[in-house]
Amino acid sequence: MFRRYDVIIIGAGAAGLMCAIEAGKRGRRVWLIDHMAKIAEKIRISGGGRCNFTNLHVQHQCYLSQNQHFCKSALKQYTVQDFISLVRKHSIAFHEKKMGQLFCDDSSKQIINMLLTEARQAGVKLETQTCVFDIEAVTGGYRVKTNKGDPICTSLVIATGGLSIPKIGASNFGYEIAKKFGLNVIKPRAGLVPLTFGGALLERCKALSGVSVEAKVCYQKQVFAEGLLFTHRGLSGPSILQISSYWQEGEPIRINLVPEIDVFKFLKEKKQSNPKLHMCNALSEILPRRLAQSICDEQACNGVLGSLSDNKLAVLARAVNDWYIHPTGTEGYRTAEVTVGGIDTQELSSQTMEVKKNPGLFFIGEVIDVTGHLGGFNFQWAWSSGYAAGGVV
Ligand code: FDA
Repeated sequence: MFRRYDVIIIGAGAAGLMCAIEAGKRGRRVWLIDHMAKIAEKIRISGGGRCNFTNLHVQHQCYLSQNQHFCKSALKQYTVQDFISLVRKHSIAFHEKKMGQLFCDDSSKQIINMLLTEARQAGVKLETQTCVFDIEAVTGGYRVKTNKGDPICTSLVIATGGLSIPKIGASNFGYEIAKKFGLNVIKPRAGLVPLTFGGALLERCKALSGVSVEAKVCYQKQVFAEGLLFTHRGLSGPSILQISSYWQEGEPIRINLVPEIDVFKFLKEKKQSNPKLHMCNALSEILPRRLAQSICDEQACNGVLGSLSDNKLAVLARAVNDWYIHPTGTEGYRTAEVTVGGIDTQELSSQTMEVKKNPGLFFIGEVIDVTGHLGGFNFQWAWSSGYAAGGVV
């Protein structure tokens, strides 16, 4: 181990690796460390093992942050096309799954191998199972006290990510360092996470576990039209994960279970053309049967259409087109894909990710208060913010 590095990067995930590669390419002596034995675990498990590594439709509106414009500069410095070029250079086959989401055809391990190859070629010294006990500002840099020695560096980069999935290495290290240096942290909370429910609604979700629909889920001004899945704990699926990043505790969400159909109109037409049709059978034409039955039971609306008043049809239609429910919480960091909140962007340069009042100290990736939508946006932020810092450290 050297006693002095140009750059020490703590956290060898997506952002840390990208930063190390760029700094190494510039001839900087880089020590990239991680406390885990296995690095980049989130890349490995991402996208169901195929890594949704970016999205063709990246734009700043796809990110949550107290300052939504903060991410623009980094995303411009290192674009989606830049990362695609890197993937192509390594002959990794990929495809667009839907909505601009790019996945490896084969395995997310190819992305990890690509980054490790690039890091090796750039002369990065990577060390796993390296724990940081303390960080001290010293003249011209920082001393990093670890179980492998206490080297000094000119630039120190914190790339330790957010709090989700603690069992594969997530820690609150980044927020603690921010606190130590007097930086504001936007309160972290779980994002892209299933929502949980209590009481009768939970029982309904359990009974419907495994049923999925293409729904439109709304919270305040946010609307996501994607899959929704009933689970043993509540609701999941892309539309629910997306809305969870915006949802605030105690607030309701609204769900349209059949967004393309005006259910009241549909039922009235059915009542006219086929009054003997059972309500559940009518609903089953546009919803999975188990869900249709559950809604009829819940609304006590089980007769033939001809026996039901238009008011009753309207109530039932609302339960489908405008289902208004109160989540009790989320599944938390155990299953969340991301952490919303983090280092306040006001503390950082949007060009370089350097802390404005602590020259030489940088934060990159998910630890910052920049959180992408589901669909490859979070990795693109990790690549772009890592690159932005890597170009100046
Ligand atoms: P990341 O979490 O990748 O890396 C942080 C590193 O720091 C880890 O290696 C960790 O061990 C290390 N570390 C933490 N504390 C430390 C300490 N105290 N000392 C030393 N090292 C420490 N995004 C996307 O765009 N497309 C996708 O398909 C998916 N899929 C997905 C699935 C699942 C299950 C999860 C949990 C997440 C995703 N994501 C995703 C989100 C994406 O994985 C995430 O946003 C990026 O990995 C963030 O990159 P970072 O480098 O900032 O943190």
